[in-house]
Amino acid sequence: MNILFVVGSIRKASYNQIIANYLMEKYKDEYNIRQTDISSIPIFSEDIEKENWPMVDKAREDVEWADGIVLVTPENNYSVPAVLKNYLDWCSRGNRVYTNKPVMITGGSTGHWGTIRSQGHLRQIMRSNGLQSIVVPRIEVYFPKIQDSIEDGKLLEDKAKSLIKGFEKFTDYIKKNEI
Ligand SMILES: Cc1cc2nc3c(=O)[nH]c(=O)nc-3n(C[C@H](O)[C@H](O)[C@H](O)COP(=O)(O)O)c2cc1C
Repeated sequence: MNILFVVGSIRKASYNQIIANYLMEKYKDEYNIRQTDISSIPIFSEDIEKENWPMVDKAREDVEWADGIVLVTPENNYSVPAVLKNYLDWCSRGNRVYTNKPVMITGGSTGHWGTIRSQGHLRQIMRSNGLQSIVVPRIEVYFPKIQDSIEDGKLLEDKAKSLIKGFEKFTDYIKKNEI
């Protein structure tokens, strides 16, 4: 099974990257794993969308390759960071590569509500006409005050229980639906 990770932060010491790293490391022998680098994707505009953008082609190919995509989002001003939304806007065009792809959403923020609001927005975005992905239901994994769940650049094992449970529910869903 091919699992793609997309992290909605391009910050070097990103906590959300650490969440993704935890799953990528833990399941590296069980699944084929990739992460799309969204840092160099240009700001979307219809004026430039038909130009040659190898990083956009690669990002779309990664989605086509994937049996499931894990989106790990921070929260910026109650919503999805622009860098992640920009990536999704590119993916919503052309072949609409996200159509019917199973998606898991998780993420952490330093605030008290831990991405509840950005994850809610992201669920809505993922169901738009251009994306039409399947956000697998009954998987809700939030990391409030994420800084308290990390030590030495790693997610603490005892803080990862809901993440593991959510990810296993996600991969079970993909297996059962033979997507
Ligand atoms: C512009 C900006 C807006 C933010 N807005 C929120 C917010 O609405 N809710 C929240 O919980 N945290 C908010 N934060 C704090 C982020 O959760 C925190 O910076 C987090 O570490 C970002 O994720 P990262 O570590 O993966 O880069 C905001 C941070 C920035 C820079």
